[in-house]
Amino acid sequence: MTDLHDIVAEALAAFAGIEDADELERVKARYLGKSGRLTESLKGLGKLTPEARRDAGARINAAKEAIEAALAERREAIALARLEAKLAEESLDVTLPGRRRGRGAIHPVVRTWQRVEAIFRSIGFDVADGPEIETDWYNFTALNNPENHPARSMQDTFYIEDKDSTGLNLLLRTHTSPMQVRYACQHTPPIKVIAPGRTYRVDSDATHSPMFHQVEGLWIDEHISFADLKGVHTDFLRRFFESDDLQVRFRPSFFPFTEPSAEIDMMFPSGPNKGKWLEISGSGQVHPKVVRNFGLDPERYIGFAFGCGLERLTMLRYGIGDLRLFFDGDLRFLRQFA
Ligand code: PHE
Repeated sequence: MTDLHDIVAEALAAFAGIEDADELERVKARYLGKSGRLTESLKGLGKLTPEARRDAGARINAAKEAIEAALAERREAIALARLEAKLAEESLDVTLPGRRRGRGAIHPVVRTWQRVEAIFRSIGFDVADGPEIETDWYNFTALNNPENHPARSMQDTFYIEDKDSTGLNLLLRTHTSPMQVRYACQHTPPIKVIAPGRTYRVDSDATHSPMFHQVEGLWIDEHISFADLKGVHTDFLRRFFESDDLQVRFRPSFFPFTEPSAEIDMMFPSGPNKGKWLEISGSGQVHPKVVRNFGLDPERYIGFAFGCGLERLTMLRYGIGDLRLFFDGDLRFLRQFA
């Protein structure tokens, strides 16, 4: 009979190095399985005398218990190691700093847009929106700017190759003035509206960009005069720039869709631009032909329109020297307005 001590010692040594639960069960079979080492030694018992058999049986049982105890201990150790590995893998370090989400902000030009809307809404103006791809009828013809008229070349234009469904030429609108016609054709006087939005011209330098923003204003009723234009526009500028002493002047000008027409200039009472007249809007009394294109009788309805650049307002409000900064997307510039 093989020495039981050797078998036990061998089994214990074999279990000790095992890290894997399945592997442990396979090795166990080598000692306790049907043809395992210990089972083999039981087979020799039959040849012994009853006394020797009892004695050997007791020793074999003791050896079996020793192996089983070592096995149970190893199983437990493997399960514990596995649990610890799992806990370590799933652990959360709650002391790690959180991942921040970047904060967005309103673009300075849109900020101006919102302020302009708020000011005009407060004095009863509606706010309208319209297409940036416009027909040449709304952009020019309806505004008393007929085809082949030299005034069209004042606004070099981005045309689109396709025509609209009625055969009209399409272009990126060169100003927000087509919204005068669109809005007035759909509403009845009194008409009191602003139409802010994007506009396009073939222009690019420190104060011009091919895409820019304007806000159109239109007030049509039976007795709306230049005095109302002056009052509304002056009040608007004083509120926008938060300066009650801001000066406004009207300078004769020409637009096909207004008669008379005026450039509106403003002057700050203080600050870096103090004492300089700054051009801020084109304006005028809406031309009778345009009022007729609104579907209204120009003998009865009269009023004013103006168009003002939102970039220009923004540059003057914040002291920005180069309009291209608005569109470069440089966060060092934009963050200053967040
Ligand atoms: N549409 C003109 C421009 O873009 C401005 C304007 C609007 C002038 C309304 C008169 C009346 O230059």
